[in-house]
Amino acid sequence: MGILEVKNVGKRFGGLQALSEVNLSVKENSVHAIIGPNGAGKSTLLNCLVGKLIPDTGSVMFDGQSVLGRAPYEINQMGISRVFQTPEIFGDLTVLENMMIPCFAKRDGAFELNAIPSVFSQKDILEKAENMLEEMNMADKRHMHAAAMSRGDKRRLEIGMCLSQEPRLLLLDEPTAGMARADTNNTIDLLKQISDERDITIAIIEHDMHVVFSLANRITVLAQGTPLVEDDPENIRGNPKVREAYLGESA
Ligand SMILES: Nc1ncnc2c1ncn2[C@@H]1O[C@H](COP(=O)(O)OP(=O)(O)O)[C@@H](O)[C@H]1O
Ligand SMILES: [Mg+2]
Repeated sequence: MGILEVKNVGKRFGGLQALSEVNLSVKENSVHAIIGPNGAGKSTLLNCLVGKLIPDTGSVMFDGQSVLGRAPYEINQMGISRVFQTPEIFGDLTVLENMMIPCFAKRDGAFELNAIPSVFSQKDILEKAENMLEEMNMADKRHMHAAAMSRGDKRRLEIGMCLSQEPRLLLLDEPTAGMARADTNNTIDLLKQISDERDITIAIIEHDMHVVFSLANRITVLAQGTPLVEDDPENIRGNPKVREAYLGESA
């Protein structure tokens, strides 16, 4: 049994069957990549795992408990954190202020935006945020406006914000999309380090094969909303079915 078990998940948007009969088992402490061409249903699947979408059929169990029908913040409290395709940080706040917000949410649960000023005056939250920035190697950037950072550093901050919630499962949707090679490699190194040093499972949705083969120890290939194959990386490379799914794409 994996820490995350997806069984027979289906999701339809109007006339489009975006997902059908999706089965997925993510082993604890693994780095599991979900890959597939554009429109394969990767983001839809991820949204079903984090409470943003409710599938029409099937089940999603995290550590033996169903995530379906729970609000995103409840799923977060169960130990699942996610990084979206576009970084979700407050550009007008400093790096340190951004980091303080999830540290506060972890302690006090959901918070209102108008509570933000009071968050910044709390000493234990400040300390926790400073420590996390240290761990992310971002201490020198703590007074920078988040919007002024490079894409790679925004991503690093966002991943750190997720880790401050001490998740057991970290989900990432194409975390290197649109990045320059140097930023991509930076993100790969960070995720490798997190996987090596922490008791954490990583599920990563990815389009870039360089990222996939640098990180994953298990891969599920999704095509037209359904898993084509799930295997170890060495068996995915050169698999003719996988090549066919990507035909016409520069994967
Ligand atoms: N909210 C939605 N309403 C209608 N169609 C959607 C919606 N979200 C995704 N789709 C469609 O579902 C399919 C899968 O999309 P998505 O999960 O975003 O694919 P991927 O992330 O693999 O590129 C696509 O054809 C997309 O256009
Ligand atoms: Mg997507």
